[in-house]
Amino acid sequence: MTDLNTLESDVLAQVAGAADLQALDAVRVAAVGKTGSISGLLKTLGAMSPEERKDRGAAINALRDKVATAITERKAALETAELDARLASETLDLSLPAPHRRKGSVHPTMQTMDEVIAIFAEMGFAVAEGPDIEDDFHNFTALNFPEKHPAREMHDTFFFNTKETGERMLLRTHTSPVQVRTMVSQKPPIRIIAPGRTYRVDNDATHTPVFHQVEGLVIDKAIHMGHLKWTLETFLARFFETDAVTTQFRPHHFPFTEPSAEMDVQCDRSGGEIKIGQGTSWLEILGCGMVHPNVLRACGIDPDEYQGFAFGMGVDRLGMLKYGMPDLRDMWSSDVRWLSHYGFSAFAAPNPASGLS
Ligand code: PHE
Repeated sequence: MTDLNTLESDVLAQVAGAADLQALDAVRVAAVGKTGSISGLLKTLGAMSPEERKDRGAAINALRDKVATAITERKAALETAELDARLASETLDLSLPAPHRRKGSVHPTMQTMDEVIAIFAEMGFAVAEGPDIEDDFHNFTALNFPEKHPAREMHDTFFFNTKETGERMLLRTHTSPVQVRTMVSQKPPIRIIAPGRTYRVDNDATHTPVFHQVEGLVIDKAIHMGHLKWTLETFLARFFETDAVTTQFRPHHFPFTEPSAEMDVQCDRSGGEIKIGQGTSWLEILGCGMVHPNVLRACGIDPDEYQGFAFGMGVDRLGMLKYGMPDLRDMWSSDVRWLSHYGFSAFAAPNPASGLS
């Protein structure tokens, strides 16, 4: 049995001496792997007499078990040591002073979005979301867009390649498909806003191919345009942090609302800067209207029982107006100087009670 004793102390010494998991695995393969030293000994049993095999077999198996246990224990020890070393090297001293007082900041569009959401949340609106990649039904058909409506054409909409099924997906051109998704899946009364990213083939000082909208939808019994006007005026006064705003509805056309209007807000442009809540100018600020009966029908709501209003506004544009940015394209130029000038502190979450901005 001396050969077994020698082998045992050899292998156990190697196990104890393995410096890392890789070295340990090499020791394992060399001892108990398919062609390992201990596995080789087990193969010699076949040529032995039954008595010899009994003793020798038991001894070899005991050795194999001992080695296996030693490997398992060594492995656990190496893993613990490795983790300890990693934890020690990745320690972060949170008490150290930050090298710069403020490195990152909240983008004005996101700040504006949070402000809009905070105001509507306080007015009892829930936030609804939907996918950026939409189908024709939700973006157009259910919203009462006629088959040949120009907004479906390539110059407005980013289309994907047509699928084998003939279906053609698109990047949503507005957040109105979220209205459809909400009406299809929820029973009235409905009171939601749909904030999100939207896409159109457009690029100039006041349009970017990617922009952000917030839409609102209210569906209930006996809802009329007075509710719409009050909701929007209340929102605008809070958003622009003035006591009251004066607004006007201008007749407009959207396929999904009837009647439809654009809302202008009274402002003063005299000093080169736009001041809301005073002055003699009007500024177009959003689109709105009473939800078209065809849209309600397409979403399974009976227009004789329910009606409602919807509105939609460009968040980037609202931010531009409130924070005085001259060109929308700067928003996406990733200029750090612009971001540190117009950015907001991440700790200043908008709250209508303590002030929004
Ligand atoms: N979806 C319209 C747009 O993107 C905005 C809108 C929404 C108008 C809801 C009326 C009602 O232009």
